Amino acid sequence: MNIDTALYRRIEAAEQLEVLRFWNDIDEAGQRKLAAQLAAINWEEIPGLIRDYVLQRPKTEIPDDLAPAKYFPDRAVDAESADLYRRAVAAGENALRQGRVCCLTVAGGQGTRLGFDGPKGTYPIGPVSGRSLFAYFAGSILRAGQKYGRPISWYIMTSLLNCDATIEFFRRNDFFGLAPEQVFFFTQGTMPAIGYDGKLLLGARDSLALSPDGHGGTLLALRKSGALERMEQEKTDIISYFQVDNPLVKMCDPRFIGLHDLERSDMSAIMLAKTGPFEKLGNFCVSGGRLHIIEYSDLPEVLAQKRNADGSLAFVAGSPAIHMISRRFVSELTADGVLKLPWHRADKKIPTVDAQGNPVKPETPNGVKLESFIFDALPLAKRTMILEGDRKEVFAPTKNATGVDSAESCRQMLVDRDARRLEAAGVSVPRRGDGSVDAKIEISPALVLDDEDAKAYVKTHRVTRIEPGTEICLD
Ligand code: UD1
Repeated sequence: MNIDTALYRRIEAAEQLEVLRFWNDIDEAGQRKLAAQLAAINWEEIPGLIRDYVLQRPKTEIPDDLAPAKYFPDRAVDAESADLYRRAVAAGENALRQGRVCCLTVAGGQGTRLGFDGPKGTYPIGPVSGRSLFAYFAGSILRAGQKYGRPISWYIMTSLLNCDATIEFFRRNDFFGLAPEQVFFFTQGTMPAIGYDGKLLLGARDSLALSPDGHGGTLLALRKSGALERMEQEKTDIISYFQVDNPLVKMCDPRFIGLHDLERSDMSAIMLAKTGPFEKLGNFCVSGGRLHIIEYSDLPEVLAQKRNADGSLAFVAGSPAIHMISRRFVSELTADGVLKLPWHRADKKIPTVDAQGNPVKPETPNGVKLESFIFDALPLAKRTMILEGDRKEVFAPTKNATGVDSAESCRQMLVDRDARRLEAAGVSVPRRGDGSVDAKIEISPALVLDDEDAKAYVKTHRVTRIEPGTEICLD
């Protein structure tokens, strides 16, 4: 078959005809696949991207006026803030009861660092049961829906890498008790990888080397997939956003939802006090009156290490990537079908083909992948809000195979949280001399969403003590 002439001309204008070098050697199915990939590319932006991000190394401009961002502290500091927090909880509970809140999980990433082959959300994280990350979120969403009397819709963003496998996993697990129509899968966009010579890389003779366009792609994908329209029909106007790697997240936290609503915020964020100057979290900063998150790899060392008079870190506010986003804000940002977020360059080893079309697995980086980040939408928001979170209650990321932010540390944090919940409900939990929990405890998120649920659970099931050294899953 022949390639569409208009498309050919656009590729030619972008000086990228090399992508067609095997066109006459591949079969028709391959030609159709490649043509579809090529048609999806915004060729007009390609030469500029190559100039700015590939042939030169983009410098992240750090503004001179960069200052730490202000936030609402976790604990009320005076009667006025105590009153605000009470009103926020009430407003959040109301929003949940009125069905104004939906959940959004970004699950399109590759999870390379974890060394797990499969969609990250299918990773077995339950300390005793081995339940998956997706099962944790599903359980909490199910229980929150029961508690507030309105089922909560759950939007899950996948990518070309894991879309089918993710949907299949939900089917196999009967959607973890959720109604299938409660869960809306959508796929994020892709970006072509670009070689250091400024030419688009082929992943095979009949395919570009494509990768997900970063979680900034969520915003446009929400519109293109029809998710935004569906939210509008369902009358949900607050989107609770979280990453697939954090099973401790409280995605239906009434106080956070309510404060976002009371502050009429476009995009809100949870912040955590960083454990040290170089913890791998994005940093909340203000410049020119706008809120920014500066990625850990971009914050200059002097600023990361800057201290206040009392010795505390000046840039203390780190981002666990937990947001409330107003639907209206997403709608406005994407109204004309394009979203102008900056791109970020990552140098990668990108599997490609040689001049004869044989597969090549490079041992050193051979090109660039471009991603956009959702938090680059913060400076575009008119109103923002940051609330401090209690780390041990909200953030246990599973990023690495071992060590810091690993599956192991995450499981321990889940055990610790469930142990605290049981203790708060009056159960005797064995602890070692150093205070650590001397048992493996897991409570089903579908049964217990919060301390109140834990109290009810232990009463009904007459749980009074956990024996030292036991493994117990309260299901
Ligand atoms: C991320 C944040 C960082 C934050 C930290 C908290 C970025 C660039 N940085 O770091 O500011 O402090 O989490 O844990 O995000 N994803 C997609 N599609 C993509 C790329 C990623 O859905 O194209 C999803 C992943 O599935 C994951 C999340 O986005 O759920 C984060 O991606 P990851 O690459 O793991 O970011 P981190 O470097 O861990």
